[in-house]
Amino acid sequence: MLDVRGLRKVYEGSGRRVEAVRDLTFTVAAGELVCLVGPSGCGKTTLLKCVGGLLEPTAGEVFLAGRRVAGPPPGMAFVFQEYGRSLFPWMRVGENVELPLKQKDLSRPRRRELVADALASVGLADAAGAYPWQLSGGMQQRVAIARALAYEPEVLLMDEPFAAVDAQTRADLEDLVRALWRERGITVLFVTHDIDEAVYLGQRVIVLSASPTVVREQLRIDLPDGRDQVHTRVAPRFAELRTHVYEQIQAAKHGAARVPSKEPQGADTPPTH
Ligand SMILES: Nc1ncnc2c1ncn2[C@@H]1O[C@H](COP(=O)(O)OP(=O)(O)O)[C@@H](O)[C@H]1O
Ligand SMILES: [Mg+2]
Repeated sequence: MLDVRGLRKVYEGSGRRVEAVRDLTFTVAAGELVCLVGPSGCGKTTLLKCVGGLLEPTAGEVFLAGRRVAGPPPGMAFVFQEYGRSLFPWMRVGENVELPLKQKDLSRPRRRELVADALASVGLADAAGAYPWQLSGGMQQRVAIARALAYEPEVLLMDEPFAAVDAQTRADLEDLVRALWRERGITVLFVTHDIDEAVYLGQRVIVLSASPTVVREQLRIDLPDGRDQVHTRVAPRFAELRTHVYEQIQAAKHGAARVPSKEPQGADTPPTH
């Protein structure tokens, strides 16, 4: 579904040159939930913007279902970190969710149906008439998720969507993402700097190096599909996987070679450098 090949991004301007992403190659299969994890500043947002066609890569290409991405493709939806800036405060929740649908050739009743369905999916069936600023942070982020769902994307790109909400809300929203992914069969690329979140959510975790960024490792998360906050997080296998990812990221920060010693089964792809 997604094919990222040799992606490189160098920011230039104002006499400054930042090589944010050096060389990233990976694929995401249709219906897969993949987490990208890497240290802050390693280029995760840059990468996601290139994948979503919001930024032009310096080199390399992104393909969505075989078509080269050059500008935001119709089949993708984005959920950003800063929900406070992603919803329009002067529009009611229902109008915010409906807005992107106006680009599609849909009848008004069909749009209404999609909006109601998406809001119900995130547990906000009653909030359509409220303004975003009347809702808590976690509820606003649910609205942003509903807006993405209503659009019926093939691929959902999420950029640290829960970094700004409290821990309890975050746990609920993580479960919501997994539930929606399982129900709707969408392809999800979820970016986070949080190792536990990546391991808890993903079917696969792609570990990025520090900037200039390359893929350090891809790890299959062989936890059962039915995950829950209480049992999954105390499972010995969860601990093994998170420890492994943690070590990789620590080593990545210090520019060391990949940590091979305690590699769990499932580290199925060699590093690309
Ligand atoms: N518009 C920009 N112009 C110049 N440098 C940028 C720009 N956006 C990001 N960067 C730089 O690129 C690097 C990666 O940033 P970013 O993609 O936001 O990382 P992350 O999301 O992993 O924290 C950082 O060094 C950042 O300062
Ligand atoms: Mg970022």
